[in-house]
Amino acid sequence: MDKAVEQAKNAILTIGNKTYDLPIHDATLGPSVLDVSALYRETDMFTYDPGFTSTASCESEIAYIDGDKGILLYRGYPIEQLAENGDFIETCYLLLYGELPSKKEYEEFNKAITYHTMLHEQMSRFFTGFRRDAHPMAIMVGVVGALSAFYHDSTDINDPYQRLVASRRMIAKMPTIAAMAYKYSIGQPFIYPRNDLDFASNFLHMCFAVPCEEYKTNPVFARAMDRIFTLHADHEQNASTSTVRLAGSSGANPFACIAAGIACLWGPAHGGANEAALNMLSEIGTVDRIPEFINRAKDKNDPFRLMGFGHRVYKNYDPRARVMQQTCHEVLSELSLTDDPLLDIAMELEKIALEDEYFVSRGLYPNIDFYSGITLKALGFPTTMFTVLFSLARTVGWIAQWNEMVEDPSQKIGRPRQLYTGAATRDYVRRDER
Ligand code: SDX
Repeated sequence: MDKAVEQAKNAILTIGNKTYDLPIHDATLGPSVLDVSALYRETDMFTYDPGFTSTASCESEIAYIDGDKGILLYRGYPIEQLAENGDFIETCYLLLYGELPSKKEYEEFNKAITYHTMLHEQMSRFFTGFRRDAHPMAIMVGVVGALSAFYHDSTDINDPYQRLVASRRMIAKMPTIAAMAYKYSIGQPFIYPRNDLDFASNFLHMCFAVPCEEYKTNPVFARAMDRIFTLHADHEQNASTSTVRLAGSSGANPFACIAAGIACLWGPAHGGANEAALNMLSEIGTVDRIPEFINRAKDKNDPFRLMGFGHRVYKNYDPRARVMQQTCHEVLSELSLTDDPLLDIAMELEKIALEDEYFVSRGLYPNIDFYSGITLKALGFPTTMFTVLFSLARTVGWIAQWNEMVEDPSQKIGRPRQLYTGAATRDYVRRDER
């Protein structure tokens, strides 16, 4: 960036024969911002930025992404270091409170989450209203939205203690609800959470244990599951997080806001991409059909896109995708599945795409969803559960961002404007005169 621009403290906007002074606010890391909050009042004009490609919707201290360098930080810590050295519970504490926990803080927080994992028993009957073949994400949206009907004592967003309880309840109960959605879809009985298991092991146990026999969690799978949760925990102002913030800005209760985030995450352009990426690899079927799909991805007349590729912010490798790829190999080798045909197709597809001018010139690289699908399938999950697992992990990010929004003294209800290009004012014409 030009030095003069870098050091500027304001920008001058000229409209016709008038000039306007726009303050510039600097970031700790990444782009500064042009403050246009007074623009409408001073110029009677709006800014226009469909998709918010150049718009900062808020100030935040939680996650930072450098899309050109492929960097993701949670409260300043690189995602690779957290995924390698920490665990998901530690990441939850970091995202919520801004610092890595001491040993004592970790133990207290872990116990607090553990003792919120059970669901109100009445809620188990809620599931029976769904068809057995309902998509688990539909169940997640419904059941999480219904939490506010069972936990009235933590819905007052202006009470910090109620926000704390609601935050812990959300983080703790999402695995239980997700596991119940899975069990319901396969006609097996619900398995209760176990307080003697760590977060990821408890989740795998609730998904894959049956009452008829002891279930031993594979530690490689538990470690992989935990790392997948860490990788998906937060990601700045992505579509679903922005949805949670917007819902929260009206004062809606946290359970309703998280349900809105789940609904948004479901889209194939967002969190639904892991399911779509695996379905795409299955559709490609063999390595020799890859060129056909690469050509379709480039064809503007074909809606097909390479699922698991590209990103609004990353124009380099998604740092999570590298950790995801390593985790994928660990799980597959634990299963001695090193010749998984889908992995072969994924590796060849990645190699071809990264050498193809169309993808290179547009900064289209594998994102986190490219390898997560293969890993989750190897762990035993059906594709319909992939986005459910994404929503389970992202809940802590949504909750941390929601708390940050509620606690922001400058916070007000989010209410964007528009460029109106509809009919000009006109008078009503009686039906018998039309
Ligand atoms: C997630 O925002 C987040 O942080 C999200 C997320 C998180 O953690 O919350 O990281 C999770 O959602 C990851 C992204 C998962 N989605 C997919 O993998 C679906 C496939 N990807 C595309 O749909 C797309 O890349 C998006 C939606 C992810 C990004 O869309 P953009 O930034 O709006 O990209 P664009 O449409 O501006 O693309 C620029 C160009 C276009 O071509 P031209 O008009 O320049 O000729 O790249 C092309 C696009 O057509 N392009 C692709 C492509 N992605 C973009 N072409 C083929 N295949 C693709 N996947």
